[in-house]
Amino acid sequence: MYHNIVVLTGAGISAESGIKTFRDADGLWENHPIEEVASPEGFAANPSLVYDFYNQRRRQLLDPAIEPNAAHVALADLEADTQVTIITQNVDNLHERAGSSRVWHMHGELMKAKCRSSGRSLEISTDFDEKTVCTCCQKTGTLRPDIVWFGEIPYYLDQIQDILARCDLFVSIGTSGQVYPAAGFVRALEPKVPKIEINTDATAISHSFNRHFVGPASTAVQEFIQVLKSDQL
Ligand code: APR
Repeated sequence: MYHNIVVLTGAGISAESGIKTFRDADGLWENHPIEEVASPEGFAANPSLVYDFYNQRRRQLLDPAIEPNAAHVALADLEADTQVTIITQNVDNLHERAGSSRVWHMHGELMKAKCRSSGRSLEISTDFDEKTVCTCCQKTGTLRPDIVWFGEIPYYLDQIQDILARCDLFVSIGTSGQVYPAAGFVRALEPKVPKIEINTDATAISHSFNRHFVGPASTAVQEFIQVLKSDQL
């Protein structure tokens, strides 16, 4: 059995929970030019559009109909057998709600706001905007979505480097491999580390993986875990 499994997840793992991906048909970027709602420049130009974009996605995440799917649960259950560290590009909280205990959100979290005065991240579950009084500095206009926007540095890159250096099995689930640095993690690994890709389709980085489980994450992750547990990887 492997002792230090690292799993990189993207929007595809949450697709079957009802959360839109970014680049699939009818994806998030079809309705919103990225630069308008996911960049510091877009926020400066039209803050209310950006607050509204993330308020809508947070409200959707809080909808009782949106819950972890079998892929999130299978990864959480795998922690009973071995150490599993999840590095996610997703800003939803479905890994945590499924029971995963080691989750690194490199692109931030919908359920957090960041105070631009103190730099602190604050748990939040309601809509907020430039009129919201920040609980840490008591000022208005300082809160922004705690999301890493294009042109900003992803979170936890030092920790992620250490995590990848200790990894003995790497699994990529539901990411198109089009956004760096996440798309480059697989190439930072020792050649001897098995590299598994789980996706409905081929991706920009499929050639970097030794083995592919093709299909929706809700079934393909369970298939992968069965093969893993029967030592046939
Ligand atoms: N099961 C498995 N994979 C799926 C499923 C599914 N049910 N549905 C879609 N996919 C795959 C698609 O084939 C695609 O490869 O999920 C991937 C989704 O790709 P993107 O929409 O590009 O999402 P992601 O790779 O997470 O984007 C990375 O880009 O826009 C930024 O910050 C944003 O974190 C995001 C980053």
